[in-house]
Amino acid sequence: MSTFPSFNGSECEEDDVEYNKMCDKHKHLLETLPKGGGWMEQHLYNYNGFWLNEMFLKANLLVHTYFKPEPTDVVLASFMKSGTTWLKALMFSTLNRDRYSFSNHYLHNNSPQSTIPFLEAVSYPMTDFTTFSAPRLFATHFARTLLPACMSSCKFVYVCRDPKDVLVSKWHFISKLRSKDLPPLSFDEAFELFCLGVSEFGPFWEHVLSYWRANLESPDKILFLRYEELKKQPEVVVRKLADFMGKPITMEEEKNGVVGEIINLCSFENLSNLEVNKKGVDKFGKLLEVEKKGFFRKGEIGDWKNYLSEEMKDRIDGITEQKFKGSGLICFSE
Ligand code: A3P
Repeated sequence: MSTFPSFNGSECEEDDVEYNKMCDKHKHLLETLPKGGGWMEQHLYNYNGFWLNEMFLKANLLVHTYFKPEPTDVVLASFMKSGTTWLKALMFSTLNRDRYSFSNHYLHNNSPQSTIPFLEAVSYPMTDFTTFSAPRLFATHFARTLLPACMSSCKFVYVCRDPKDVLVSKWHFISKLRSKDLPPLSFDEAFELFCLGVSEFGPFWEHVLSYWRANLESPDKILFLRYEELKKQPEVVVRKLADFMGKPITMEEEKNGVVGEIINLCSFENLSNLEVNKKGVDKFGKLLEVEKKGFFRKGEIGDWKNYLSEEMKDRIDGITEQKFKGSGLICFSE
């Protein structure tokens, strides 16, 4: 079951002046921001250049009002359907490799979504994250420029993926979450919206560029990864993640095959076949529930070939080339 009830703003607490002010701002934004066609619900709202739905817009205001970043925080950032679930599992198991044995691991009984909280899923009153031990791990689909400036003290792992595969993955995923009050979203409609940039957390290209620019400004603060490189050389990425999170793989661990253990534990084959990921829902905040199995579909590079015509491929590749031109970002050529 997937539900996505619409946010009605009725949860404002009378006694919290700051929260009430924030709710007023949310209401005002919903009335005034430019609207575009939603994938899950009828509308998305263009907020500072990026498309958010009601719930994510509210979460963004909550993060700006209440989230207190720590310089030791590591934030996994991604455009949705770029490999977030995989990275959540990899980052969590790499960082906590002394805490769990690989034969009886937390991930055997808990979904990857439960390992790292999404900033988009925060609600009021906000969870007390000060009780989390450092380095705290968070995840977000917000573009870098939509996050509070004070988060520049945090470290970011950004994972991106060929937009053609992101589109196909997202269309499958969102089709199941789409409001039952709306007609199904055809692949052609989704393609058109995606190319126009009208897509939750999008435009895709500006999202990637927001983190790429931050990476150029502070390369030591952002680890920029690609889903495709993770598929081809997972061991290289796991070592990079371990270094980046301040817990490099030791010689002893190398000898004991720890990198291979992490990769096997977090592989698509292993995670998608665990009972815990086949049944039930992951809850995100108060309003969103997603079937756990929805986070695992094919886990391949190039599935877009089964959905996009030559003309569609050329259109997306052309947009990517034009948007990334001069940025130093390598296009996705597969
Ligand atoms: P497909 O729909 O192309 O199969 P996200 O986690 O950001 O929502 O991305 C979901 C995509 O990552 C889906 O892609 C999903 O199948 C794939 N995925 C999930 N877990 C994975 C894993 N362990 N290894 C590789 N791909 C994985």
